[in-house]
Amino acid sequence: MEIEVLNNISYGMYIITTRKERKNVGCFINTLIQITSKDPIIAISLNKENYTNKILKETKKCSISILTEKANKELIAKFGYFSSKDINKFENIKWEEIDNLPIVTEDVCGYIIGNVIDIIDVNTHDIFLIKIINTKQLTNNPPMTYKYYHEILKGKASKKAPTYIEEKEKFIKI
Ligand SMILES: Cc1cc2nc3c(=O)[nH]c(=O)nc-3n(C[C@H](O)[C@H](O)[C@H](O)COP(=O)(O)O)c2cc1C
Repeated sequence: MEIEVLNNISYGMYIITTRKERKNVGCFINTLIQITSKDPIIAISLNKENYTNKILKETKKCSISILTEKANKELIAKFGYFSSKDINKFENIKWEEIDNLPIVTEDVCGYIIGNVIDIIDVNTHDIFLIKIINTKQLTNNPPMTYKYYHEILKGKASKKAPTYIEEKEKFIKI
């Protein structure tokens, strides 16, 4: 199987957030798709080891910010490589509180607020089905794609991302 073929699947770049009592929680994801258009529902895939997965199962309510090409690697690294269990990811970034949710507004073109309506167990990950209850467009800056993150920002995937593919050693043919 040529697993690298999966690198051709396209994704966007998002930060999902939720709040338990006074604790703001969130992480970086690239796996989000829209499932239905009427009463729109989206699906995301979250690694079971991510703290956001554990808390979202309890709160059942989240916000998803859509990152633009202006977003810097530091913001992505903070939400994509560290755990909300250990650090406050919301320190020194732009965010707002709406509907008792922390929403990242730094370099995002808009956000989605939704309620978890179902969770599907898929081995290492869970698929969360989220019914959209509110949305807002903040800027018209182009949304960042996963390809842009890799090719322009030279970013790497996290081992916890569902789309992670181990890089094979490259041999030079003589
Ligand atoms: C580019 C990139 C894409 C990622 N995509 C996902 C994803 O789609 N689903 C997921 O569960 N984790 C994904 N991650 C990994 C989580 O963001 C990461 O494990 C994070 O540290 C979890 O934080 P938490 O413990 O506060 O939830 C991604 C990370 C990066 C850098």
